[in-house]
Amino acid sequence: MSAPGNKDIPFAVSGATGAMGGRMAARLADLGYRQRLVVRDASRAPNLPNADAAEASYGDPEAMRKALEGASTFFMVSGGEANDRVRQHTDAVDAAVAAGVERIVYLSFLGAAPEATFTFARDHWHTEEHIRNSGARFTFLRDSLYLDFIPGMAGSDGIIRGPAGEGRVAAVARDNIADAAVAVLTSGAHDGRAYDITGPERIPLRQAADELSRITGRSISYYSETLQEAYESRKDYGAPEWEVEGWVTSYKAIAAGELDVISGAVSELTGHPPMSLADFLGQHPESYRHLLDR
Ligand SMILES: NC(=O)c1ccc[n+]([C@@H]2O[C@H](COP(=O)([O-])OP(=O)(O)OC[C@H]3O[C@@H](n4cnc5c(N)ncnc54)[C@H](OP(=O)(O)O)[C@@H]3O)[C@@H](O)[C@H]2O)c1
Repeated sequence: MSAPGNKDIPFAVSGATGAMGGRMAARLADLGYRQRLVVRDASRAPNLPNADAAEASYGDPEAMRKALEGASTFFMVSGGEANDRVRQHTDAVDAAVAAGVERIVYLSFLGAAPEATFTFARDHWHTEEHIRNSGARFTFLRDSLYLDFIPGMAGSDGIIRGPAGEGRVAAVARDNIADAAVAVLTSGAHDGRAYDITGPERIPLRQAADELSRITGRSISYYSETLQEAYESRKDYGAPEWEVEGWVTSYKAIAAGELDVISGAVSELTGHPPMSLADFLGQHPESYRHLLDR
């Protein structure tokens, strides 16, 4: 199928072994597009019609340049959290431009800003800035917290613990993000835009716990930790300080109101409304199974 762009391969999709990139690759294949899957391990690349895989990681610019050669649009999934993620991302963007990529659609995060409370959202802002200045056409998809993650926030003890206070978040399902992203990719009309991609309802985590109680038939609660309690309760995970900071500040950003955002982008881009938490739980019983196995 034809698509915006002048190269033989309309789309290159990174992170195709993961949840978002995998959804994107499957949707583009269903639409009949030719694509290059940019993966770190080709043996784990999805097997899709009109797709070939090239191995590259963001930290290897030469491999990235080769992997992206011949592609018009690069759908760039943000990489796994790392202390040097911004450098990895900027290297990957430079490699894309060197390969002749014309457009980069970057999966960013809601509220990406240099001083965002959520420290990982700062990486997204620095990546966006680099893309803005790269010379490539671009669109940023700033997704909210994944709705898919909400059931997993409750531990097997049935408690969601975090320093989110009574702050609200309009979490969005990965499937809705992928639908919106495909609409952007397959049209040439979104250059220079940044879209907030959110769910339909701003809810406090206490309400998310109530929703989980309703669907599981078990009492699920929310405990609003103090910041001190949040660092303390995560200290035994053995994670480096920057990572714990990212985890704790994801809740702190909710408390600060930085994720208290609803946008109409999913409906506008896809023609259908995004899922609510109740919709998601109804469709994905596997997401809360850990709360049933006691
Ligand atoms: N909005 C949210 O709530 C939220 C939550 C968590 C994360 N995120 C961000 O959103 C991204 C996509 O989410 P997802 O659900 O698709 O995550 P995912 O299922 O973990 O998939 C991440 C994908 O990115 C690839 N990847 C990671 N680091 C890379 C690197 N340095 N170079 C090249 N490829 C790399 C992974 O490859 P391998 O299979 O080889 O590991 C995988 O295919 C995440 O990577 C993270 O940055 C967002």
